Amino acid sequence: MEPFERPELYEFHGVSMTHYFTDNWENVQNFKALPDDILIATYPKAGTTWMSYILDLLHFGPTVKDRENYLPIFDRVPFLELTIPNYCTGVEVLDTLPTRPRLIKTHLPIQFVPKSFWENNCRIVYVARNAKDNAVSYFHFDRMNMAQPEPKDWNSFLPRFMEGKMVFGSWYDHVTGWWDKKQTYSNLLYMFYEDMVQDTGRELERLGSFLGLSTTAEERECIRGGVQFDAMKANPMANYSTDPVMDQKISPFMRKGKVGDWKNHFTVSQNETFDEHYKKRMKNSTLEFHTEI
Ligand code: PPS
Repeated sequence: MEPFERPELYEFHGVSMTHYFTDNWENVQNFKALPDDILIATYPKAGTTWMSYILDLLHFGPTVKDRENYLPIFDRVPFLELTIPNYCTGVEVLDTLPTRPRLIKTHLPIQFVPKSFWENNCRIVYVARNAKDNAVSYFHFDRMNMAQPEPKDWNSFLPRFMEGKMVFGSWYDHVTGWWDKKQTYSNLLYMFYEDMVQDTGRELERLGSFLGLSTTAEERECIRGGVQFDAMKANPMANYSTDPVMDQKISPFMRKGKVGDWKNHFTVSQNETFDEHYKKRMKNSTLEFHTEI
């Protein structure tokens, strides 16, 4: 396999992207969603893998024996827009996925979602994470993932995050775009990473009722244990240790899993500048986040 080249960011229909997520654009846009597909949508680093693993266990944990022991999460929940050389595209993997319902990962901002998801009234779970922790997590991810642009140092990364010069564009546009959609599209469950950290069991119940799944308290407790940060970090099927584009010696994929780690990265002055900019960017939205719990 060719060694990985870090891609450059470029403007794609008004959103910063890299070619790894736009090369298969026509097939992504023409993707044929099925009515029982479940889309897991997030801005990068907001808890996608956590939600993917939870939904996989909720749907298949009890029925498909040993599924969690031999298939890494990125094969169980294919990444719709992913197009990496020498790998099947996300669309190809989805077209041959044998299990139903299909669980599908995307980081696309709302305006890029293929129209068949709306036409089929598919259920969608969106996970949002507070901007400060999201930025920190994204910074460390870009350091260790050779398929992402070079992040340079934190002091230059943070202003670029604020300007939306990140893969999949602006955090502000992403979280508010999906939030606005939720007001008119009832099959969208909008969840928060911070709520999941605070009370995973409660959020599992919300998910179960949204998806119409009846699970016993015992099953939920078993899933809750399996999806705790330490359990997922130690689980090779969930921790991306089998993904060759990541150098986990630089920073582990399952890095900290905390709310409030931003305090270890933001200087006082960065925090003030960020808060001021945040207020302006979010002033027209009713969306609210917790930056500590
Ligand atoms: S990706 O690459 O966009 O799919 O990344 P994503 O999975 O969205 O986000 C990775 C961050 O989620 C944290 N994570 C968890 N936190 C708490 N509990 C569990 N079980 C869990 N699983 C993943 C992961 O550690 C990354 O956050 P940081 O802050 O970097 O630790």
